[in-house]
Amino acid sequence: MSSLSGKVAIVTGASKGLGRAIATRLARGGALVVAAARSKEKLEQLQQEESQKIVSFPCDVTRATEVKALIDFTRERFGRLDILVNNAGIGRFGKVEDLSEDDWDQMMAVNLKGAFLACKYAIPHLKETEGHIVNISSIAGTESFAGGAGYCASKFGLMALSDALTLELKPHQVKVSTVCPGSIKTEFGRHKDYALEAEQVAETVWTIVSAPKGVIINQVRMRPLVPREYQK
Ligand SMILES: NC(=O)c1ccc[n+]([C@@H]2O[C@H](COP(=O)([O-])OP(=O)(O)OC[C@H]3O[C@@H](n4cnc5c(N)ncnc54)[C@H](OP(=O)(O)O)[C@@H]3O)[C@@H](O)[C@H]2O)c1
Repeated sequence: MSSLSGKVAIVTGASKGLGRAIATRLARGGALVVAAARSKEKLEQLQQEESQKIVSFPCDVTRATEVKALIDFTRERFGRLDILVNNAGIGRFGKVEDLSEDDWDQMMAVNLKGAFLACKYAIPHLKETEGHIVNISSIAGTESFAGGAGYCASKFGLMALSDALTLELKPHQVKVSTVCPGSIKTEFGRHKDYALEAEQVAETVWTIVSAPKGVIINQVRMRPLVPREYQK
């Protein structure tokens, strides 16, 4: 069985939902994980549950000083950084004429600028370890829908960031992967009862980061299989 023993990972948005599942999966797969989000108490609970493998670090990914502090802390505490999972994300939905400017700005700040900042400060360390960036996008980063303009724009932007990073980092042996899930059973928003489990998406992230050294899984799109009774 493959293992991430000796590897150090950062997972953003790890206080709940998919990020929590990814942090747990990577830790159980042998990595030391720095779990970042704003909710200090939820992070501390996660740290207690996986006490030997997960260290919490409160961080708002929209603030450059906090993101830099997260990367510096990881490097100083563990001496290296191998994997960065940009998972923190928010969704605000509504037609363009109804969406507030603040909702638009927040989505861009968390979903897009947050990933940019984390990559910016992590890349020098990932070059040293020939590491890996995994960006959590969405099917909404590949197809737009009415009422999703701001969210889709932020996730399409994340796809562009991933593509450019893939080319910039290829010469340095740093892998870049993007995961585009459909609906997941988290607190993120309404979902059908057949939506993906966070653990199923986390398992995909595990498969991506534990791929053989010479293999890059660039992009994964995954959706729940809609049961017959829900199909028109
Ligand atoms: N759920 C879905 O159906 C679905 C589908 C496709 C893609 N995704 C993507 O999957 C990712 C995870 O979503 P989820 O479903 O797990 O949502 P969730 O349960 O609402 O969790 C979102 C996470 O992001 C963190 N976060 C939000 N703002 C942050 C900020 N400014 N700084 C740091 N962390 C922040 C939250 O922590 P704090 O509040 O503690 O900061 C939380 O840990 C997102 O990127 C989302 O776009 C979700």
